[in-house]
Amino acid sequence: MASVYKRLAHAAVNTFLAGTFPPFFKLKRALMASCGAQIGKNVRIVGPVYCSGKLVIGDNCWIGKNFTVNGNGTVEIGDDCDIGPEVTFETGGHAIGAAGRRAGEGRNFVQRVGKGSWIGGRATFVNNAVVGESSVIAACACVTGVLPANCLAGGVPARIIAFLSESGEKLRLEQKAEKARTDSDCSDISL
Ligand SMILES: CC(C)(COP(=O)(O)OP(=O)(O)OC[C@H]1O[C@@H](n2cnc3c(N)ncnc32)[C@H](O)[C@@H]1OP(=O)(O)O)[C@@H](O)C(=O)NCCC(=O)NCCS
Repeated sequence: MASVYKRLAHAAVNTFLAGTFPPFFKLKRALMASCGAQIGKNVRIVGPVYCSGKLVIGDNCWIGKNFTVNGNGTVEIGDDCDIGPEVTFETGGHAIGAAGRRAGEGRNFVQRVGKGSWIGGRATFVNNAVVGESSVIAACACVTGVLPANCLAGGVPARIIAFLSESGEKLRLEQKAEKARTDSDCSDISL
């Protein structure tokens, strides 16, 4: 019975309540909470949402469309986070098995987003993963392992691109520019 209710509640969030119409946000919070998710105050869930794991979202977050939590692990999102569209948390996985079946023993993972962070569209989390507070994850990144607070990270797997100042400036870019100039000295290459 509970699973039928859960299906109906998700169906409502994912169909006629989906979108950014402000009066629906409160109802979507209540429906998600009634399905076992922990949803903070003033969270705005665009929907559709798919969630098979444990989900904890802090206050004042934005959850973009097609937010997906696959597997039976845990996703914890701190206060004041913005999650772009199509972000996926792969909270399940396997140990690498023997040749006959490489997807070995099942694993559940914990994936955390520190408060104040922004996760770009289509980012994917795999294995145990932590994004430190006030960080930015670039669109399409694959986040695994631990990323520190106040960083901009991107790519597959996500690596630190820059650190961010309190006001949002990217730090250490001059050093990167200097390195790029050195790296691009191709005078001894003939085509
Ligand atoms: C990460 C992001 C915010 C950076 O934007 P920006 O401040 O204008 O910075 P820049 O474009 O100057 O990029 C800074 C560096 O990050 C790199 N970068 C930018 N986006 C990247 C991405 N998606 N993946 C990998 N690297 C990326 C740039 O190549 C650049 O590297 P360099 O310093 O070696 O040249 C932006 O690229 C992004 O991904 N935004 C998310 C957009 C989104 O998901 N929108 C949906 C609604 S929330």
